[in-house]
Amino acid sequence: MLNVESLNQFYGGSHILKDVSLSAQRGQCTAVLGRNGVGKTTLLRCLMGLVAPRSGDITWDERSVLALKPHERVAAGFAYVPQGREIFARLSVKENLLIGMAAHSGAAARRIRDDVLDFFPVLRQMMDRRGGDLSGGQQQQLAIARALLAQPSLLILDEPTEGIQPNIIQDIQRIIAALAARGDMAIVLVEQYFDFAAALADRYVVLERGSVIASGDRSTVASEATRALLAI
Ligand SMILES: Nc1ncnc2c1ncn2[C@@H]1O[C@H](COP(=O)(O)OP(=O)(O)O)[C@@H](O)[C@H]1O
Ligand SMILES: [Mg+2]
Repeated sequence: MLNVESLNQFYGGSHILKDVSLSAQRGQCTAVLGRNGVGKTTLLRCLMGLVAPRSGDITWDERSVLALKPHERVAAGFAYVPQGREIFARLSVKENLLIGMAAHSGAAARRIRDDVLDFFPVLRQMMDRRGGDLSGGQQQQLAIARALLAQPSLLILDEPTEGIQPNIIQDIQRIIAALAARGDMAIVLVEQYFDFAAALADRYVVLERGSVIASGDRSTVASEATRALLAI
């Protein structure tokens, strides 16, 4: 289980995250909702160790991960699908996928697992294409597949629907639901697309200017009040 306890983070003099607390359990999807600029990506970068919080703690199965570097968090089971996907445009699809397995060694690290590719049949036909030649939706699928190949127990996704056509959004929703149902993975999903997040969220927090202003479970996520907190 992931626990974020009273996290505070600053960029220079700007107080970006203010006493943010949340938890995420295996078998569940925890949604982090909020408008542009409220600190969602910064929170995820803290989870991955890409920026350091000033105070607070992040624990995974009751051990603090704050001292771990990003690659050590990957080895501990954290996988990150960043906002904007960050596919290597000049590398092939296959090479992008192999990078997802770099944390593992031995023969298993050289085989791209079928159970991951079964989620993304389109990638099977595109193994030798360059990442940069894929559509936005295909790149997003590649980014999620790359993360899954690290065999994570914590999957962190930053706005996976951003700039993606509706039919692929549906595919991604089905895949995230299937991953949560498997029960072996905690999922932290940052989203602004409310209906997508509400369909997947077992629990949620709403961020506003760096603070958690609302939280709850599946029974309240779709309420008018939650929706109103996110309306522009
Ligand atoms: N590297 C950075 N340096 C300084 N300020 C930043 C940096 N990254 C983000 N910010 C600021 O921090 C705030 C939160 O940004 P971000 O976490 O990206 O929000 P969100 O993902 O919710 O849109 C914004 O005001 C943004 O301008
Ligand atoms: Mg963001």
